[in-house]
Amino acid sequence: MKIDILSLFPEMFEGVLNSSILKKAQEKSAVQFKVIDFRAFAENKHKKVDDYPYGGGAGMVLAPQPIFDAVESLTKDSASPRIVLMCPQGERLTQEKSEELAKEDHLIFVCGHYEGYDERIRQHIVTDEISIGDYVLTGGELAAMVVVDSVTRLLPGVLGNAESSQQDSYSSGLLEHPHYTRPADFRGLKVPDVLLSGDHAKIQKWREKESVRRTYERRPDLLDKGDRTSEEKQWLRGLEERKGK
Ligand code: ADE
Repeated sequence: MKIDILSLFPEMFEGVLNSSILKKAQEKSAVQFKVIDFRAFAENKHKKVDDYPYGGGAGMVLAPQPIFDAVESLTKDSASPRIVLMCPQGERLTQEKSEELAKEDHLIFVCGHYEGYDERIRQHIVTDEISIGDYVLTGGELAAMVVVDSVTRLLPGVLGNAESSQQDSYSSGLLEHPHYTRPADFRGLKVPDVLLSGDHAKIQKWREKESVRRTYERRPDLLDKGDRTSEEKQWLRGLEERKGK
């Protein structure tokens, strides 16, 4: 996959793209990142990328020309990349959206900073608008990093078995079960006996049940989305009853 990022602050991406799994993903050629300062595409003498809003008001607006030209320079020999605008008005990022983007060959992220975007950018070049949550950041860069991270880890060959994304919270529609490591007794705080039993079937059941419990307690909204097995439904009835008492 090719991931291009348009930003006025390319240096913000250096640490994130060149560390940990994202670094390894590039080394394995699962992904190729390019961060482009779209100021370089500004046609005016002072390399200005924004201007005052028509109709007046506070703040500046990112002009269409540098962003249109920067995107077009990247799409010349690309079939039909997804062009993702980072903004608080976009659709909220979900695991499902990351899975959808991970199927593409080419993604282009557009990050504004401080300013708004000229509406023609939204209407004529962008295919997706994404928000990472209902809060306002100083720019789209941090948000783009979040999306790039969550997409890249899903690409084939990026995660080893040990880090597999199959059991992630959200990929099953449920939150993950609790985890424990050694020691079995830490300052009198004990690991649940079942995990020390060596009975793998029993451990698996315990994990499934804890996963349902955790989702019920923390994110009951997720339970309405996916299909639940009859066993899961039974556990949920048990949790409901206990709550009622
Ligand atoms: N830019 C500013 N705030 C944002 C948010 N919450 N998500 C995506 N891009 C943004």
